[in-house]
Amino acid sequence: MRFDELPTPSYVVDEGLLVKNLKILHGVMERTGSKIVLAQKAFSMYAMYPLIGEYLSGTTASGLYEARLGHEEMGKENHIFSPAYRDDEIDEIISICDHIIFNSFSQLEKFKDKVLQAGKKVGLRINPECSTQEGHEIYDPCSPGSRFGVTLENFRPELLEGVSGLHFHTLCQQNSDDLDKTLKAVEDNFGTWLPQMEWINFGGGHHITRDDYDIPLLEACIKRMQDNYGLEVYLEPGEAVALNAGYLVTTVLDTLQNKMDIAILDTSASCHMPDVLEMPYRPPLFGSGEVGEKAFTYRLGGQTCLAGDTIGDYSFDQPLKSGDRLVFGDMAIYSMVKNTTFNGMALPAIAIQDKDGDCRIVKEFGYQDFKMRLS
Ligand SMILES: Cc1ncc(COP(=O)(O)O)c(C=O)c1O
Repeated sequence: MRFDELPTPSYVVDEGLLVKNLKILHGVMERTGSKIVLAQKAFSMYAMYPLIGEYLSGTTASGLYEARLGHEEMGKENHIFSPAYRDDEIDEIISICDHIIFNSFSQLEKFKDKVLQAGKKVGLRINPECSTQEGHEIYDPCSPGSRFGVTLENFRPELLEGVSGLHFHTLCQQNSDDLDKTLKAVEDNFGTWLPQMEWINFGGGHHITRDDYDIPLLEACIKRMQDNYGLEVYLEPGEAVALNAGYLVTTVLDTLQNKMDIAILDTSASCHMPDVLEMPYRPPLFGSGEVGEKAFTYRLGGQTCLAGDTIGDYSFDQPLKSGDRLVFGDMAIYSMVKNTTFNGMALPAIAIQDKDGDCRIVKEFGYQDFKMRLS
C-alpha cells in the first residue's frame, strides 16, 4: 500500500533509513573490530531483527522478556544488565544470555557461580561518577545517589574472580567527546583492574548515527582500550540504531480555539510518544514550521484527558482541517516500546516502508489489546 493509504495512527519504520544507520554502525565494527549490539529498550520492533542481525552482533536486554525476544527473534549474541535479578528468573536468563552483567558485588556473589558453570560471561557494571550531561538528571546514571554501577568507594577487588568484563553506561544522546571524558574517568578510577579483564562494554547513549557525531574520536576511544589493555570492546546503543528512521502518521480530528488555534489529533503524546513529555522534546513534523514561521500556528494535542497531552506548537501554510494527515519524524525509538492504552486509547499500528516506498502493516491493535492487560 502507499504511505498515504496507511491507517492512522501508525508507526512506520523506513527500511532504507534503518539500513543507512546500520551501515554506519557496521562500519565502526569493521574498522575497529569492536562489537555493537542493539539495546532493545529503545527499539524492539522484532520484525526488523533479521535485518538488524545482518549488520550488528546481537542484542542486549534490560530483563528476562527483552532477553527472550532477542534470543527468539535475532538469535545472535545476547547480553543483559539489570539493577537486580529475581531468583525465579535467573536460570532462564543464564540459559539464553551470553553476557550477564551485575550491578553490585552482592548480586555477583549470589549468582556468579551459576553463570560460570553454564559457560557464560560474568560482567560488572561500574559507575565512573563522571556526569557529562546537564539538566537531565533523570537520564544521568552518574548523578549523586544513582543506583547504577559500583563506585570506586564500594569496589571490592578481592571479589573479582570470574568477572571477565566491566560495563559502564553514562551517556544519553551524546557525542564521542563525552565518551572520551568518561573513559578517562574509567581509567582513573578502575584502570588498575582493566588489564585482568577480557572485555569492556561502553553502554549506550552514543548518538553515532547523528550527522555531527565524531566517529573518528569514537574509534580512537575503542582502539585505546584495545591497544592499552587488550580488551574486546562492546557498545550497546539503542537510539543510534533507529534514529530518525521512523514516523508516526496521524489524522486531525478537530480544530478549536482558546486564545490560539488548537488541533486534536488521533494520537496522544502521553500514550504514543511519551518521551515528548518525559524528555521533553518537540518532535519534527513534516511540512511545518516553528511558531509564527508559517501563516497558521496550532497547538497540537491528543485525545486523552491529560491537560498536558500536547505535542507542541507548529505552524502551517494552510489552516488545518479535520481529515488532514500529519507525519511526525523520529518516531521509531522509545515510542512503540513505551506506549500505553491510558484512557483506552488504541495503540498505533506498526508498519514498514520498504526501499521502494511501498508500505505494509505488520501489526494492528484493537480493543482486546486494551482489555487483556486489565481484569
Ligand atoms: C544499560 C544501558 N544500555 C544501553 C542503553 C541504550 O541507550 P540509548 O538508547 O540512549 O543508546 C541504556 C539506556 O538507558 C542503558 O541503560
